[in-house]
Amino acid sequence: MALHLDLSGLFDPTSESAGRLTREQLASAMPRAIAAREAHLANLPKWRSLHAQGDLQAACDARAKQVKAAGDVDYFVVLGIGGSALGNTAMVSALAPVFQEWNPEPGQPRVFVLDNVDPDWLGEFFASVPLERTHINVISKSGGTIETSSQFLIAFDAMKQACCGDENAARARFTITTDPKTGHFRGFCDELGFFTLPVPDGVGGRFSVMSPVGMFTAAMAGFDCASIHAGAARVDKNLAECAPEDDPALLYALAHVLYMEGGKPVHVHFAYAHRLRFLADWYKQLWAESLGKRLNAAGEVVHVGPTPVKAVGPTDQHSQAQLYVEGPNDKVYTMLKLRKFGREVEIPEPFVKSQAFEHLRGRKLSELMEQERCGTEVALLDANRPVCLIEMCGMDAFHLGQYFQFLQIATAYAGGIMGIDPFDQPGVEAGKIAALALMGCEGFEQRAAEIQATFAARESFQLSC
Ligand code: PA5
Repeated sequence: MALHLDLSGLFDPTSESAGRLTREQLASAMPRAIAAREAHLANLPKWRSLHAQGDLQAACDARAKQVKAAGDVDYFVVLGIGGSALGNTAMVSALAPVFQEWNPEPGQPRVFVLDNVDPDWLGEFFASVPLERTHINVISKSGGTIETSSQFLIAFDAMKQACCGDENAARARFTITTDPKTGHFRGFCDELGFFTLPVPDGVGGRFSVMSPVGMFTAAMAGFDCASIHAGAARVDKNLAECAPEDDPALLYALAHVLYMEGGKPVHVHFAYAHRLRFLADWYKQLWAESLGKRLNAAGEVVHVGPTPVKAVGPTDQHSQAQLYVEGPNDKVYTMLKLRKFGREVEIPEPFVKSQAFEHLRGRKLSELMEQERCGTEVALLDANRPVCLIEMCGMDAFHLGQYFQFLQIATAYAGGIMGIDPFDQPGVEAGKIAALALMGCEGFEQRAAEIQATFAARESFQLSC
């Protein structure tokens, strides 16, 4: 059971002129990476040990047991956004039955993660979901996120109606995951008696999947939470104990930073399994929000950061591959591969003799997936595009825990190598504040006036057709 990393395709086997890094370039940048790793290990962030926080998992398990004990929960709904949703979506798509919304695991609820305020989507959802068979988990560390706050109000109002106006009954169908001490949700949750789970202090949203932010969903969905933690613990220990030159997260981070600095700032996460497609969304937030920064650690304006892109194979071979193989050589590719799929599908004997079918005789879909992936890898390498591979033996809880922890550590290292703070998100906060101001939130009047003045001063350039 391992998460295997193949970095061979990142390096040019012959000369540096071909557009890929040489091992010498990597070796000469290694001191910079080692310094970043040492700084990280000397001041380990709290998310690195979430897998060892048995009390947090016990709280999630106990609440899930309590919620399920009533025997009236067929639907589990997560309301949140960004780091308060993407890990949940990734876990559910990776570990639950593929069409769990129609066919959930026997005995487990259908899980829905709603991370948008689109009125068509939310309105339709709350008009259709049988709320009397539903439990809702609202997740917001700050309690100040306008999307989640509005979702909360809509969901609570709908639930109250479903409970014939009984607020106590409606409240019992909610679990609120939020900061244990501060934040806008804390006060009324305590006052009104909403059940809460903590987002631990010092754990930012995109690094919180192994806290109650993700693990209550995991417990509700019946996933093997101990194995998710065990996978993360394995990576955590192995990476802390190995020599820096052998640290796969450090090498992955360093190669990506060097490529970014050398003119390849677009980092494509190419998932070759339907179950892995939302891991690419989780990665996109982690990589973009952690590494895209205006200031470096010294406070200088640098405007740095890679642009992560999601691709799904083979679907995007027929959508993006033309650009990837022949367009600008400004990208680095990480292919996500499953060594073994959960099920095998044999392609049936052709019903007619045809060039379209002959080579499919006796083949399996897993073979086709792998040959498609290899074909794309070869096409990229032939065009001197750097490609690496993250391979999981299978899609299970253990490997998922390994994947999460590996990329979180690689992201922290990349931030250190780049000399920026990977744990803040001032750009996101700026957008949050602007939205609050425009929605008339008290205390943001001045910001609202500034924004309106900017809009008023903007020269109109409108077209229609
Ligand atoms: O990673 C982050 O910090 C952000 O994406 C947050 O998770 C997101 O903005 C939601 O914040 P909150 O949990 O406070 O509602």
